[in-house]
Amino acid sequence: MHATAPSLSWLTEPAVFEVNRLPAHSDHHWRVGGRELAQTLDGAWRFFYSPRIADRPSDFWRPDADLSDFGTITVPGHIELQGYGQIQYVNTQYPWDGLSALRPPEIDADRTAVGSYVRDFELDPAWADMRTCVSFQGVERAFYLWCNGSFVGYAEDSFTPSDFDLTPYLHPGTNRLAVEVYQHASASWLEDQDMFRFFGIFRPVVLYAKPAWHIEDLWLRAELDQDNATGTLRPRLVISAPEGTPADALPHAHITVADPTGTVELARSCELVAGANDVGEEEADVEVDELPTHPGARTFRTAEELRIEPVQCWSHDAPALYTVTLALYDPSGTEVESVSYRIGFRRVEIIDGVLTLNGDRLFFRGVNRHEWSPTAGRAIGIDDMRRAMETITRNNINAVRTSHYPNQTPWYDLCDEHGIYLIDEANLETHGSWQKLGRVDPTWNIPGSDPIWLPAVIDRARSMFERDKNHASVVMWSCGNESFAGEVIAAMSRYFHASDPSRPVHYEGVFPTRGHESHRAAWEEISDVESRMYASPAEVRAYLEGTDGTPGPRKPFVLCEYMHDMGNSLGGMEDYLRLGAEFPQFAGGFIWDFMDQALWRRDALGRRALGYGGDFGERPSDYAFSGDGIVFADGTEKPAMQEVHYWYANEATRAAHDAQRDGAAEENARRLAERAAERRTASDLAGDLVVVEGDVNLGVRDGELEVLFSWAEHGPVSIKLNGTEWLYRAPRPAFWRAATENDRGCGFAERASAWLAADANPRCIDQQIEERGPRRVSVCYRFASDAVPGAEASFRYTVEAGCGMLVEAEYHGAPGLPELPCFGLRLATPAPVREVVWTGLSGETYPDRWRGGRFGRWSEEPHVPPYLVPQECGCHVRTQELELVGMPGSERCDRGGAGAAARLRAVMEEVPFSFSALPVSALELETADHREDLPKSTHTHVTLYGAMRGVGGIDSWGSDVTEPYRLSSAADYRLAVRVLRS
Ligand code: GAL
Repeated sequence: MHATAPSLSWLTEPAVFEVNRLPAHSDHHWRVGGRELAQTLDGAWRFFYSPRIADRPSDFWRPDADLSDFGTITVPGHIELQGYGQIQYVNTQYPWDGLSALRPPEIDADRTAVGSYVRDFELDPAWADMRTCVSFQGVERAFYLWCNGSFVGYAEDSFTPSDFDLTPYLHPGTNRLAVEVYQHASASWLEDQDMFRFFGIFRPVVLYAKPAWHIEDLWLRAELDQDNATGTLRPRLVISAPEGTPADALPHAHITVADPTGTVELARSCELVAGANDVGEEEADVEVDELPTHPGARTFRTAEELRIEPVQCWSHDAPALYTVTLALYDPSGTEVESVSYRIGFRRVEIIDGVLTLNGDRLFFRGVNRHEWSPTAGRAIGIDDMRRAMETITRNNINAVRTSHYPNQTPWYDLCDEHGIYLIDEANLETHGSWQKLGRVDPTWNIPGSDPIWLPAVIDRARSMFERDKNHASVVMWSCGNESFAGEVIAAMSRYFHASDPSRPVHYEGVFPTRGHESHRAAWEEISDVESRMYASPAEVRAYLEGTDGTPGPRKPFVLCEYMHDMGNSLGGMEDYLRLGAEFPQFAGGFIWDFMDQALWRRDALGRRALGYGGDFGERPSDYAFSGDGIVFADGTEKPAMQEVHYWYANEATRAAHDAQRDGAAEENARRLAERAAERRTASDLAGDLVVVEGDVNLGVRDGELEVLFSWAEHGPVSIKLNGTEWLYRAPRPAFWRAATENDRGCGFAERASAWLAADANPRCIDQQIEERGPRRVSVCYRFASDAVPGAEASFRYTVEAGCGMLVEAEYHGAPGLPELPCFGLRLATPAPVREVVWTGLSGETYPDRWRGGRFGRWSEEPHVPPYLVPQECGCHVRTQELELVGMPGSERCDRGGAGAAARLRAVMEEVPFSFSALPVSALELETADHREDLPKSTHTHVTLYGAMRGVGGIDSWGSDVTEPYRLSSAADYRLAVRVLRS
């Protein structure tokens, strides 16, 4: 739309989403005389924050405005992260829910903050005769622009660039830009992504100049023939010419194409002919009356297609990028500008329901990624992107969904380079308009089939498509996220199909529409792939087997979101990945998601701590629900990453890993069995046990191992080895683990809470000496709890002359009780141990998340992995040996040698066990909201487990851990370890 004066009414008119904005274009850079004509406007801007629309300084855009009460702000950056306004995190609900009674496209003027920005800049004298434009790469959520007091334009869509021509308003010397950014507009209804809600100029601002003849837009369509050996380049150029240029005056181009090593494969002068090539011309047919065009520009193509033969295909394994350099000559033969761009030749097709790349099946080992930094929010920089890319490539991830908006351009360059497949997602999410408290209720869903939203939605698609179309990494376009379905999104899909037949279209929202009144078979056509989120492995299988009654054609199946990695999760990945081997139509999935979204802040006690939703005083909030990453908010990998690394590796690598793991485990088990046999033989030579029976205690000594069993404390109160005391109080049964977010989400924590009571208050129901001889003393304690009638735990401690102490823990089940979180024996050391050493699997492992572990001897200082919300953590399954090493003060008692650290060793008795060694107890983890709330540790809490529930990973709001990894309370469980006497 064109207008010469701004109007506030645009904020609430869905049909007005841009005014005087230049058409979207490719992200190419151009050089004139070897120089790039670009100048950054990032840095300090003058700034004024107004909490309400009515409070805003209305004349600040005038060149002579009094800015004395303006402060400064850094661009790019979120306003809320620079000391103004309110940080808020919400998921599906709109951020004003319950505060302002609104329906689309309304906004509440009293709850819409405004940021007024001013920036002076010097105009490069060399640009004096050129057209000069400004590009705002990302502004949330709607903004008005003035230059030297003249109104320039207006734009929405926070995540794609908005460019404006400043030429008519500029003068030599100092010029002024004024930008008024609104927190809300009708666009807010289209941007209901599950994320922190910010506003402001949060991506770079660039001033650029264009020569008289200029490539406004470039589409280097790189095609790969079926032979995978011939590449065809069919450039489409939109070129603007000086005003008054006769229509028959034709520019021409010189094109060189260099292969990945820099060898020039092709260098040719190309005649340009008017008109696009066969695709991209159907654009006009996209049901939007007015698609903006570049003023004075015409579309050209090269008269001939350019062939490269043999060509190297682009793929994840070999991301071959060719550099195309294009010099543009005006009709007189003078070079006017040049452009360099890196492209890849690859072919994406769906063949018989199978997604393919270059003819081979394409399988996404993917992750969803929000742009995020714990200090800058979504205003990330290239270093953040590089670090993310390193993590991605290191962990065998081959695909990223840009959830849920187009990312910054440098990310696409990195993905091209590293062979990362992208599902490029348009900035559209209207979740709160059709899903309420988890229930599908599309009574006032937008955009639905309401034509009022059509132009804005198509514009979002177009802005993404035009900017990103040259990137080899983009293998699919996505119509956005969770916006239900209707005519508008169907039109969006038609737009993508018509503009770019070379890439399939993705949209998950087809799925929730099924079974609703508004469901129409037509919505099936929106998406070329069957995309679902959080479908269980059984549901995926049913689709792939064709037994779930899904209408429409059989499509490749994509899990656009799966493995919800909130807190300690990611169990059961195997169930999904195995389906990949069975069904070629399964095209893999994208883990939700890459990085925990949390922000560094000072907590109420002034400590630097990661804050999540609700910590910033905002209401409503959805609290820690944005902490779902496979990396923590600080970019370090979560313990579960080794599982991702394993399952996303290729089959051969996985097989080698399995062989190492299983082989080493077997070998070690054999070694332990031999040692046990040797111990038995040698024990004949050991002296008898020393047994002292008191009134309250029974003391038993086997060489340097001394144990004191108490009848008052219902367990051993002392285990001393070489004089070092390892027990703080008598061990107790472990019936509870601190609920994980998955446990809470599926109601398990509530259902199983009787076990929390049992864990906190076990009752000893029996204690006795079962055997009392010079070679063997066995003491047994039995526990029960009123909270779990019928269930029982018994701990038997058997000291055997020369063989240390066998510890056996048994759980005897009872019917009718809730499932168990875990079963084991829990003890605390008198002081924190320095190091825990174990022989078993690396990292933190659980029964449904262990295959990524490598077998070996590992050590760590007992610690709580920095999950955003403290919860069960630190488990090590399939352990064969465990050693506690060093406690403050223990050295003086150690007879093993001067200064040597004290050690207590336990080994499996035939069957491996699980354990955790943490500085805090399960109950302390259970009650803390933040890591900082955990007490300073005075003990190490060691739990030996005979049974541990899986962590699950399907989702965090309803799906239980899958069957094999749940613990029936009616069953029996057992644990046996031997504490060695040296
Ligand atoms: C999905 C959504 C994501 C995120 C996730 C839960 O429904 O697409 O953006 O909210 O659930 O963490």
